[in-house]
Amino acid sequence: MQNTRILFVCLGNICRSPLAEGVMRQLGEAKKLNIKVDSAGTANYHVGEEPDARSIEVCRKHGVDISGLRGRQFGVKDFDNFDLIYAMDTSNLSNIKRLARTKEDEDKVELLLNLTSPDLNKQVPDPYYGGPSGFDSVYNMVEEACQVIAQNIQHGQ
Ligand code: 4NP
Repeated sequence: MQNTRILFVCLGNICRSPLAEGVMRQLGEAKKLNIKVDSAGTANYHVGEEPDARSIEVCRKHGVDISGLRGRQFGVKDFDNFDLIYAMDTSNLSNIKRLARTKEDEDKVELLLNLTSPDLNKQVPDPYYGGPSGFDSVYNMVEEACQVIAQNIQHGQ
């Protein structure tokens, strides 16, 4: 099976997308999927920083260690380096699509929650300014979507 390269993108790359990266990486290992997983932010505010402590904690509760990840900014080269690019919200989606050079680039980008709620354009809410419960709900929606990615890859889609 061919290697599938998956990129998760949010705004800061410290809350939602590193969480998704950790969950997907763990699922990939458990299911022995041939994948490469990374995450990035559309903004540069947190480049080089570790994930938000609340994301690290919710992942730790589920046995996923994301403490070693570091923030980076999404760049146009990511269209070459990844096959599937998942945006957490519609603002991330339009910021990524604005950088697309071709229709092929644009077609790689999708809202993450369209995997679990097709065509509804639901968003993973930004938990940054809320409390820890926001991170639990982000974890659950991201985990469900990552399960769909895993199933799609296992079924060769
Ligand atoms: P993320 O959350 O996009 O899920 O990483 C945020 C992190 C930082 C900021 C906003 C959202 N910020 O404004 O610094």
